[in-house]
This record gives sequence, C-alpha cells and structure tokens, in this order.
Amino acid sequence: MAFRPRYTGLIERYQERLPFGGDARIISIGEGNTPLIQLQNIPRVIGKEVEIYAKFEGLNPTGSFKDRGMTTAVTQAVSEGSEAIICASTGNTSASAAAYAVRAGIKAFVLIPEGKIAQGKLAQTLMYGAKIIQIKGNFDDGMRLVKEIVDHAPVTIVNSINPYRIEGQKTAAFEIIDELGTAPDYHCLPVGNAGNITAYWKGYQEYSTNQGALKAVVNKRPVMCGYQAAGATPFTLGYMVDEPETVATAIRIGHPQSWDSAWAAKEQSGGWFDCFEDAKILEAQKMLSAYEGIFCEPASATSLAGALKDITSGKIPEGSKIVCTLTGNGLKDPDTAIVQSTIKPTTVDAELGAVKTAILDSL
Ligand code: F0G
Repeated sequence: MAFRPRYTGLIERYQERLPFGGDARIISIGEGNTPLIQLQNIPRVIGKEVEIYAKFEGLNPTGSFKDRGMTTAVTQAVSEGSEAIICASTGNTSASAAAYAVRAGIKAFVLIPEGKIAQGKLAQTLMYGAKIIQIKGNFDDGMRLVKEIVDHAPVTIVNSINPYRIEGQKTAAFEIIDELGTAPDYHCLPVGNAGNITAYWKGYQEYSTNQGALKAVVNKRPVMCGYQAAGATPFTLGYMVDEPETVATAIRIGHPQSWDSAWAAKEQSGGWFDCFEDAKILEAQKMLSAYEGIFCEPASATSLAGALKDITSGKIPEGSKIVCTLTGNGLKDPDTAIVQSTIKPTTVDAELGAVKTAILDSL
C-alpha cells in the first residue's frame, strides 16, 4: 500500500473554510490548535474582575503564529508549481518560511535587518537551511526590496501581502470561538505589519456570520484593540514612521503593509490603537512569566500591556471576556530575557552544605 501522510494541521481541521481542494498537497508541520490559557493570577494582582485568556501562539511548530499563514501560503505556492519562496522579516516569518520550504522541498530566501533579529529566530533559520540575506536596512527596506525582486527572479512572496497568509491566520479566531463557544468581548493584539489583526478580523467576521453548529454566537464579534511600541507606532500617529525603534524587534516596523485593512478592523469593530514605552512591554512579559508561567517574546506581551492599561483605566470594563494573542515564544529572544532579569543564578561549590545554605537562605 502506498504511504499516505497524515496531516494534523489547520488546513485539515478547517478545510471547508479554506481555499484548497481535497486533492491539494498539503504542506503542514502540525500548526494551529494552540492553547487558550485563562490567566489565573494577573486579574487578582491588578484587582479587577475580568476573564483574560492568552492565545499562546508561541506553541506553533516554529514558535510563532506565522506557521498558520505559512502552511497555507506554501501549500498554495507548491500547487502553483513555485520552486522558491521569499520574505522580508523581523525574524519569525523567516523562521517559518524556512521550515515550511524544507517540508515542501523548495528553496527559501529571507531578507532580514542586519543585527536586529533575535538570536533564537536566527538560529532556527540557519538550521532550516534558508538562504539568509542580511540587509543594511530595516524591515521596511526589506519589504520594498522583496516586492521589487519578484520582477527579476522566479520567487513567490510569502509575507502577509500574500492573501493565503491571511487565510491561514484567520483560523486562530475560529479556534477561539470553538473553544469559548462565543467570540470574546475584546481581542488584543500586537501590531507590526498588520497582517494578523487583518486576519483575526476576517476570521471573526466569517465564523460569526456563517455558522452552522454554533448558532448562539451569530453576529457576536470582539472589539479589536491593536497595540504598538511607542518607538514604532504608525497606527497611533496616523502616518508612516521612517526610523522605527523598539526592544520588541518583531514589531520594529514603520511602514505596515496591511494599513487599510487594519484601519477597517479597528473602525468596523469599534476598536482602537494605542502604544506604550518599551518598559511597559517588558513589564507585561515579566508578569506573564512570573505570575502565570507563560514565557512569550517581548512583542507578544504588547497585547497584555495594552489590555492591562485599558482594564485599569476602565476603558475595558469589569466583567469583560478578553483574549490577548501571545504571538511568539519567549525562547525566540533569550538575550532580552536574560538582560532584563533581576534574579541572577547563584553559584556555589558542588557540595551539600553550600546547596543547603543557598536553599535555606531563600526560604
Ligand atoms: N508579534 C510577533 C512575535 C511578530 O513576529 C510579529 C510580526 C507581530 C507580532 C506583528 O504581526 O506583522 O501581522 O502585525 N512579525 C513579522 C516577521 C513582521 O517578519 O516575523 P503583524
């Protein structure tokens, strides 16, 4: 009997809502189906009666939400006969593209800003064997070059301007509705290139208007709240930024590609954009680790930083059900975690007395 691969990814789960026929060769590494974790301690710490859930996308195969869009983009690229994909990236898209290219048996080219991507992301992309082109510029320069290069080389763009990326990423909203039995009241996201907020809004709209099984949730959609770092905040300023800067390198973007669709998500949902200093982002990242045991990368914690600000001010009222997407795994950026950590390892001699003293001193 011929070997038939089994797929366990999101294309298989939501095939009837995705644009692939039953005979498509699906390129999957088992993405999606990530946990929706209710925060147990942070609401108590801030003294507010709210239900906050973390959609932990850092548990996807390459450690970020990009895998949702990459399974669909690469499946489509392969079905069109493409033999090479390309993206500009702040690190996560490049890692994901590289992994899915390996899975498909095609080539991946990635343009990254020199010295500005987190070590974990670089390590992955090297191991997956992509052709890494470091540019002496930022993500926005890379994006411009990628859009130009397709006229000069046979490569398929897998940035989120590729509509198949959005198709895959919208499934995160489906999973949330499937799990909660309803859409949340508020959905909080970090915003960089703005593909993800576009995708979630598409997912919420499609699932809430076109449901068979979950009739109770028809028409309920969340208020979409998009948050950025103060040094890279075109959406709160209302215009593009030329030299974005933030410790959250994943969202160090000044010229977002999905500009119009992100504004549409905000307007149609009655939502808002806001931004904070890097210190607030790192504080939220620390809170997730220290109070909930969830380690996400800095950019991801921007969603919680925003939620906490708006819950505290009362803009998000008590009694609300809130989902914060944690877009990437904390292991992506070990350097930032270690640098900001106030607790340092204690070094002792390898003998019982020293270990005992170290423990008893800390109890
Ligand atoms: N969080 C993380 C961890 C990201 O890597 C990104 C984007 C975002 C949030 C923002 O999502 O762009 O859809 O608004 N990273 C891209 C990359 C730009 O190249 O990895 P967005």
